[in-house]
Amino acid sequence: MIDLSFGIPDPELLPIPLIKEASLKVIEDIRSLQYGPVEGYVEAREALAKLVELRGIQTDKNNIVLTSGAKEALYILSFLMNKDIVIEEPTYQGFISLLKFSYGFSYGGSVYTIPLDSEGIKVEELEKILKKGVRPSFLYTVTINNPTGYVTHDDNKKYLLELAEDYDFKIIE
Ligand SMILES: Cc1ncc(COP(=O)(O)O)c(C=O)c1O
Repeated sequence: MIDLSFGIPDPELLPIPLIKEASLKVIEDIRSLQYGPVEGYVEAREALAKLVELRGIQTDKNNIVLTSGAKEALYILSFLMNKDIVIEEPTYQGFISLLKFSYGFSYGGSVYTIPLDSEGIKVEELEKILKKGVRPSFLYTVTINNPTGYVTHDDNKKYLLELAEDYDFKIIE
């Protein structure tokens, strides 16, 4: 059986010499061995702000927080938005695990699941539960779904955005 739940790269594809060089550069800068701002390294946040600007999003470093990977960000969000949420079915196994963990510590909410097909999450199914009165704080979706590899169609994304505006929930992608 091949486990497709983790995106583990072939070690031969990893640019080890470049990673070594970059790691050495990092520890040669003494600041990297000291405490830094809670929100993350300022220069990296400034560079990220410029990068998202290239994609048409106006922001600055004060709106950017660095985390140790996507899982930490998802973990913080699931605590912050401690209400009902919607996920697609199937979804990334790591998110389910951290939800169980974070909701175990707090009052939590309900987790609603919406099936997906090759076009992405079935948005009309989401609309049905919203019309019935479900008011999630956020929807968690993965554009290139893990584990299916399905890519959300642009029309589905637009439809999702309309629902998010109408029913006032966030989309975490
Ligand atoms: C959809 C998805 N989110 C997050 C992760 C893990 O992210 P990170 O290692 O940055 O916490 C994976 C890993 O396979 C993933 O498939």
